[in-house]
Amino acid sequence: MSQATSNVSLDTIISLCKRRGFVYQSAEIYGGLNGVYDFGHLGSMLKQNIRNAWTQSITKQQENILFLEGAILGPHAMWEASGHIEGFHDPMVDCLECKHRFRADEIDLQKSCPHCGNKAWTDVRQFNMMFKTHVGAAQEHSSVAYLRPETAQTIFVNFKNVMSTNRVKIPFGIAQIGKAFRNEITPKHFLFRVREFEQMELEWFCHPDDTQHFFDLWCDLRHSFYTTIGIKEKNIRLRSHEKEELAHYSSRTNDVEYQFPFGWKELEGIADRGSFDLDQHSKHSGKDLSVYDDETKSSYVPHVIESSVGVGRLFTALFFDAYCQDVIEGEERTVLKFHPSMAPIKAAFLPLSKKLTEPIRNLYKQIAQKGYKVEFDESGSIGKRYRRQDEIGTPVCFTYDFDSEQDQCVTARDRDTLKQERISMDHVESYLNNLLS
Ligand code: GAP
Repeated sequence: MSQATSNVSLDTIISLCKRRGFVYQSAEIYGGLNGVYDFGHLGSMLKQNIRNAWTQSITKQQENILFLEGAILGPHAMWEASGHIEGFHDPMVDCLECKHRFRADEIDLQKSCPHCGNKAWTDVRQFNMMFKTHVGAAQEHSSVAYLRPETAQTIFVNFKNVMSTNRVKIPFGIAQIGKAFRNEITPKHFLFRVREFEQMELEWFCHPDDTQHFFDLWCDLRHSFYTTIGIKEKNIRLRSHEKEELAHYSSRTNDVEYQFPFGWKELEGIADRGSFDLDQHSKHSGKDLSVYDDETKSSYVPHVIESSVGVGRLFTALFFDAYCQDVIEGEERTVLKFHPSMAPIKAAFLPLSKKLTEPIRNLYKQIAQKGYKVEFDESGSIGKRYRRQDEIGTPVCFTYDFDSEQDQCVTARDRDTLKQERISMDHVESYLNNLLS
């Protein structure tokens, strides 16, 4: 095998995602919808692996984590209290010549338009990124609602419900995985910045005196999560926000950043939201969201440490991290070196010839019935079938050949090292177990 290369362009990733059925442009047959994507079979499985890994990691690291599935639609009053009506804006500017629209903080307005080369800008305007809609048939003020731009607010408004119905005590966390929507001025970099996406958010409620401790703890835990799912350490770093970067609700934020080909960019934000959200919802709803401390016999409003990461953004990072090209016996191959826990398909079962189908198909069925995500493939040359599995990141292929009939063994071929070993068909399940544990 020749030296492997891992430099890859965004276009290569996009085309691989489409070719192998990971991601499609949404409503493509109608010309697509900018910044909106659909996930195919392998894409859905990769997303599910990401969600599972996140859930497992936060619940392993701390007990006292409860889950919520909040509504996507939220009333005007809730978004007013959260500060999103007032403050969830990006600055927008248009080129008067070519009518291209930009985020004003992403271009130099002293220079010409990057699209047409002219220099004629509109004034910079603030653009609210929430999608507004009307609930019910009558379009009066009271029916205005918004698609949530973050899942977090449904957690804050349910804080008391969750606490009183689950008998938990501070400190505890409420976690949520769900859709969020932002009318981004310029969706870009594939799934990195889109208009419809999924967030995995944890709001950790603690006593104000423990804020520093939990902020540091969650920064450590979240930073280390990424290497456990196979992301290379050199591509991950933690960066503190400058004061002027902070969101309206945060007094300090650390981003976990990934080194994309288009620069170090935020994967996840860990923010100290203090009591901002509970205070705001208390004030606007008139409901008391403080908790009573039995020891000190006094009430206080808990502070919140938030960890928030986008599933699609992590999906993109995993592709860049895993993508690799090398040459085997003069033939170029593309391989996704996903960590086995992330790989959508854990193993492929391949008969060397169509005459050998039955026994390996039976083994495949047995393993699939035990809940492993596996594939059976008998069409095309064995080399082509290996390439296909490499390209979708399957860690191991089990091949049944003419010797298998005698020794009841299959050849296990490792995706990354290409090492082949004979193993008994009875040991295939434990082989997979080892690989995944
Ligand atoms: N509740 C806090 C919050 O929403 P954020 O930094 O705006 O904070 C958190 O978003 C995470 O959500 C980001 O780190 C990113 O992974 C993901 N995210 C945000 N906007 C996104 C977009 N337009 N497209 C894809 N992912 C996005």
